[in-house]
Amino acid sequence: MPLDRLFRSKHLLYKALSNTAEEKHFLQDVMTHDAATYAQSTSRLLVPPRAEDIDKDMAGLAANALLSVIICLPPKPEADTKDPKPLGIIIAPEHQGSGYGSEAIRWSLEWAFGIAGMHAVRLTAFSFNTRAVRLYERLGFVREGVRRESIYFDHQWHDHIMFSMLEHEWAALRKE
Ligand SMILES: CC(C)(COP(=O)(O)OP(=O)(O)OC[C@H]1O[C@@H](n2cnc3c(N)ncnc32)[C@H](O)[C@@H]1OP(=O)(O)O)[C@@H](O)C(=O)NCCC(=O)NCCS
Repeated sequence: MPLDRLFRSKHLLYKALSNTAEEKHFLQDVMTHDAATYAQSTSRLLVPPRAEDIDKDMAGLAANALLSVIICLPPKPEADTKDPKPLGIIIAPEHQGSGYGSEAIRWSLEWAFGIAGMHAVRLTAFSFNTRAVRLYERLGFVREGVRRESIYFDHQWHDHIMFSMLEHEWAALRKE
């Protein structure tokens, strides 16, 4: 990872979660107005997210995540200017399908293997989240297991799929 790309990639900037009221309000707003995004990213009982739910999520990230960032579009265009840990990602609805999820996951892999010395990066997706499953497989993540019929959503039980990428797998992919 080039040093000038430590906390940024081609189109994106990665900022620390700072737990401010503005940030919490932003997250609560996204989760409330785009319930599909919320449903795809939590296994909690689906009720409209309360401020305390967002607090719990942020406290959980602070305690358990090695890396938790807000993914931002920079203010100006680019031209101007050891244990495996699970990876989670949510892109704001209006910016989904623009390649930002792929770019941010590639950046996280560079960070995990090139900076944090990780040997494996794992992530999970619910089987009904076909876009996420497609994306993880396209990026080169390997399915390593399935917790069968463990998520109840919309009158049906769905699988929880586990994916991983190993250091040497990313080393080969990043050269392509
Ligand atoms: C899943 C998620 C993280 C993917 O992020 P994203 O930014 O939408 O992903 P990308 O844009 O890189 O790729 C998604 C699609 O956009 C397409 N795409 C990528 N770059 C594109 C571009 N420049 N223009 C148009 N389409 C593009 C990809 O081909 C892909 O198509 P597909 O869905 O038909 O396979 C995002 O959709 C999200 O936050 N979803 C809700 C929460 C969630 O599910 N989180 C993951 C929980 S496991």
